[in-house]
Amino acid sequence: MKIMTISSVTLFTICLLISFCDAKVLKDFCVADYTAPQHAGGYSCKSPEKVTVDDFVYSGLATPGNTSNLIKASFPNAFSYQFPGVNGLGVTLSRGDLAPGGIIPVHSHPGVTEIILVVKGSITAGFVSTANNVYIKTLEEGDIFAVPQGLIHFGVNTGPSQALVFASFSDENPGVQVTDLALFGNNFPTDLVSKTTFLDPAVIKKLKAVFGGSG
Ligand SMILES: *[C@@H]1O[C@H](CO)[C@@H](O)[C@H](O)[C@H]1NC(C)=O
Repeated sequence: MKIMTISSVTLFTICLLISFCDAKVLKDFCVADYTAPQHAGGYSCKSPEKVTVDDFVYSGLATPGNTSNLIKASFPNAFSYQFPGVNGLGVTLSRGDLAPGGIIPVHSHPGVTEIILVVKGSITAGFVSTANNVYIKTLEEGDIFAVPQGLIHFGVNTGPSQALVFASFSDENPGVQVTDLALFGNNFPTDLVSKTTFLDPAVIKKLKAVFGGSG
């Protein structure tokens, strides 16, 4: 009886593995077809005979972004809605240009892990764990930094020159939740923000003016 149970479990597992292997073999990629309707799972796949190598090449991260803004930084992305070849692959990249003093505001990517590579300059970066421990390090050229899945993280260009970083993500279209925008960039009522964060209402009003919020 016990042997029967084990062998049926084994058989089930093998079937499962075979069906996974089959799926991989049958479908190498799903290049996004921006002209077809989107469905719950994302983009429709471009018909394979219409796919070319150019679907897998994206040049949008080749040039520096404009850092004349509040955060003195710019983050062009190569997500699935810009870069069709990455659709369905579960990975992508962003570029970050940070002027001296430029910031990566406190934010998180729900369910997504990130790795940051410092190509030029130096960045003080960190994340906060769910145990509420803060992990901060000043990263130099060539350093890479792992941000575990979904944790809030941040960065500042603490060096004297322009910094260039690239960030990779475990999703081709990572969501982003910027803490300042979640609290001050919408119509979240000031009294409720104040009650639920213990921040002074005057400070909240001031930040709502900065981040485009109301109420
Ligand atoms: C950068 O952005 C600022 C503010 O929007 C703008 O005034 C400036 O012309 C832009 N610079 C370039 C090179 O696009």
